[in-house]
Amino acid sequence: LLLFIGGCANSPAPEDEPGNIVVGFSQSGTESNWRKRHTESIREELAKEGYEVLYRNGFMNQDRQIQDMRTFIAYKVDMIVFTPLVEDGWDAVLAEAKDAGIPVIVVDRHIRTAEENLYLTHIGPSFKAEGNRAGLYITNHFQNSSQSSVKILEMKGLANTSPTNFRSEGFLEVISRDSRISIEASLQGDYIRSKAKDVFRKYIEENGWEDIDVLYSHNDEMTLGMLEVMEANGIVPGQDILIVTIDGQAEMIENLRAGKVNCVVECNPNAGWYVRNTIKRYLNGNTIPNEIYMPETVFSDKGNLDSIPPREY
Ligand code: AHR
Repeated sequence: LLLFIGGCANSPAPEDEPGNIVVGFSQSGTESNWRKRHTESIREELAKEGYEVLYRNGFMNQDRQIQDMRTFIAYKVDMIVFTPLVEDGWDAVLAEAKDAGIPVIVVDRHIRTAEENLYLTHIGPSFKAEGNRAGLYITNHFQNSSQSSVKILEMKGLANTSPTNFRSEGFLEVISRDSRISIEASLQGDYIRSKAKDVFRKYIEENGWEDIDVLYSHNDEMTLGMLEVMEANGIVPGQDILIVTIDGQAEMIENLRAGKVNCVVECNPNAGWYVRNTIKRYLNGNTIPNEIYMPETVFSDKGNLDSIPPREY
């Protein structure tokens, strides 16, 4: 097992063989195909390196995830890879890992801690850039339109999570440049298809369709649920309502090609290589940056739909 002395840049003894390295991987849940791919990507890449991976699924329950991490600490793993469900509430368990000399890599969502240096690094997407990109598609789309007002329905992901906060913030930052564009309603679908479908259906029953020119949805699973509600009510998605969604699951790319959605802002689930590379560099004594961003792009009906790379999720 490795020696980790408090700070982020400290490195373990180089004589450790990859085969001896045990990584505890705590995933937040399985709420989406995106998340399933995210898990596979990390497990596949760590296995390629010959690391032994102890995997635990938190099933979208923070207490359970904390318990999983305590199990890893008790087992004296060499490294913890941790995909947090929410932003806050991790200080105690991270301090326990630090006291035990176990470095922690936070992947995907960000966390907020009172104390600094409780984890080695964060690896993930720029959720704010995703929000910016979604906003840009909409402002560009209406740039030359004579429409005097553009009303948006936003379907948000889970509260107290960095993708939800940053996707809203980045989006608002861009749409506020055009005074005709505003968010008419923000609903909460927790990144879950069935929840978004129910919440949206209730909203429509109470408010009707008049005030929705655009749907901005924080993930594809929720969009899929909302497409069902639209189609059941005779609304033509992608035409009657402009649809911008985040993730880029295979099913959503098909919908984009079919004209049912207009813009898919990619959220890259393939974190595995970055996690593997970071662990390897750390074990080899390299200094690890505090933040490692993964590349992402945008697919839209204004781009080249024929050049979208095949999706594994
Ligand atoms: O944290 C990333 C988000 O979580 C993805 O956009 C979403 O699909 C998942 O549930």
